[in-house]
Amino acid sequence: MKNIAILGATGSIGQNSLAVIKSLPQRFRVTYLTANKNIDLLQKQIAEFKPKGVVVLDSCNASVLKKLLNGTVEVLAGEEGLEEIVRRDDVDIVISSLVGFAGLKPTIEAIKHRKTIALANKETLVVAGELITALLKEYDVSLIPIDSEHSAILQCLAGEDRSHVAKLILTASGGPFLTTPKESFASLSVEHALAHPNWKMGNKITIDSATLMNKGLEVIEAHWLFGLPPEKIDVVIHPQSIIHSMVEFIDGSVKAQLGLPDMKIPIQYALTYPDRLPMNGRRVNFPKLQSMTFFEPDKEKFRCLQLAFDALALGGTAPAVLNAANEVAVGAFLEKKISFEKIPLFIEKALSQHTVRHAPELAHIIETDKLTRNFVGALL
Ligand SMILES: NC(=O)c1ccc[n+]([C@@H]2O[C@H](COP(=O)([O-])OP(=O)(O)OC[C@H]3O[C@@H](n4cnc5c(N)ncnc54)[C@H](OP(=O)(O)O)[C@@H]3O)[C@@H](O)[C@H]2O)c1
Repeated sequence: MKNIAILGATGSIGQNSLAVIKSLPQRFRVTYLTANKNIDLLQKQIAEFKPKGVVVLDSCNASVLKKLLNGTVEVLAGEEGLEEIVRRDDVDIVISSLVGFAGLKPTIEAIKHRKTIALANKETLVVAGELITALLKEYDVSLIPIDSEHSAILQCLAGEDRSHVAKLILTASGGPFLTTPKESFASLSVEHALAHPNWKMGNKITIDSATLMNKGLEVIEAHWLFGLPPEKIDVVIHPQSIIHSMVEFIDGSVKAQLGLPDMKIPIQYALTYPDRLPMNGRRVNFPKLQSMTFFEPDKEKFRCLQLAFDALALGGTAPAVLNAANEVAVGAFLEKKISFEKIPLFIEKALSQHTVRHAPELAHIIETDKLTRNFVGALL
């Protein structure tokens, strides 16, 4: 029996993770859950999964929940609470599914306490890939990706010699604006941008999918997970989201992983890796599907994808700048303070004013994140 802590239990990945854990009661038990503000849903999850403790980031909400639970379940608050639970002995696996930069510190703490990491929070590897890779080695810890593209690549690589890999091919649905002319980007609504054609996800990643920044972040994530240079990581638009990614080998063979778009599949694979267990659910129906299509991404129209490749090439603290500027710009778009077309402009400005620091330590990454947020905040 493995004990699991879910960071971000009330989010889209958190809820899908609980559904997977519920279906495998002889293998997994939830010991800790965390939320930011959504204590109503957290309360329901506590009633169903009976964790030993919970963390609520927001201190007011933590106090409210503490009163409501009346000592039946331990309630911790804030960032310290997140870092405290991942250290505990009654945690074997940490599902890192907070959104954004907030996921970095608790994930590092979990690695330092030798917990297996099931990683959804791609921002952790984007901002601190070099540091995380070194820590995984130093503490001899496994980190298994939950992102469907990286799970697909991991599955394609099973049984293969890594030196036989020619390139990785990440697929992207293209988001809701794949065929929308760039001239219309200034007038796109938040509601329209949140209507992803294939996946139901949290708001931040849904906007990242619409700008294609999500694919850019995934290119950086793939670079650190699989150790390939940017020129060996391709992106291809595949609107049906049936192929989740591919690996091309040195003999020209290509392996792909296919499935319906359902995050429970990569979550279960990450939790049971390297085992594969049965899962109920719909299956790909090829005669009904009939065709799958592929296109080159338009990096002029979707500038964020090019900016992510640029930040990866710059290295050091540049991806932390990309990430922080993107988080602030996406937040401003969601609050209807800026238009959709402005998102890449703020990121580009933040990157161009930054002096890259190579081989950054955690303190440099945190400082870069803070300075970039201030810079973009002032521009806004
Ligand atoms: N959703 C997907 O299908 C998917 C697929 C692949 C990768 N990912 C990655 O997985 C991560 C989570 O995505 P998501 O879609 O599940 O996000 P989400 O639905 O927005 O959920 C985020 C979770 O983190 C909590 N949270 C938000 N801000 C926080 C903060 N500052 N400190 C602590 N907790 C905070 C939220 O709590 P409240 O609910 O209380 O606000 C919620 O539990 C992201 O990095 C995303 O890129 C997601």
